Amino acid sequence: MLNKKISDMLNDQINKELYSAYLYLDFANYYADEGLDGFAHWYEVQAQEERDHAFMIRRYLINNGVRVHFEAVAKPDKVFHAHLEPLEAGYAHEQYVTSLITDIYHEASAQKDYRTMQFLDWFIKEQGEEETNADDMVKKMKLFGHDAKGLYALNQELAARVYAPSTTGPAM
Ligand code: FEO
Repeated sequence: MLNKKISDMLNDQINKELYSAYLYLDFANYYADEGLDGFAHWYEVQAQEERDHAFMIRRYLINNGVRVHFEAVAKPDKVFHAHLEPLEAGYAHEQYVTSLITDIYHEASAQKDYRTMQFLDWFIKEQGEEETNADDMVKKMKLFGHDAKGLYALNQELAARVYAPSTTGPAM
């Protein structure tokens, strides 16, 4: 039986992960409209990963006897004026998500809920990777994105991203 506060925080995190998927799909919409199909593809894959995160947390709650409840997913409302802006917004968003996961972990630790801490270990590691990826994209864009050739090469690189379902993620 999970502590109510922890199960509420996890339930809320499902919404945040679905919002992340929605947000990144909106970034993909922007890049598709700009003709940068590689960037759009990269964020489509990212959106799929975020949806997976939501599913994992939902499954964890169900497996632990919690009735999951959904709230409305917020509308992505960012307006972009430059190709760098979604990348910077993505990096800031991942830092925010890390803070949310850290808060749940902190609460689980305070409640001696070792099962949830173990479940969240995967997310802690994943957030580290996602922050690194997001930061790398910002840096590469600043270095190479200002001329057509560099932007073309970056677009090609991002087009190669392959979606891999998170089968190794936690299902406790
Ligand atoms: Fe599911 Fe990018 O955090």
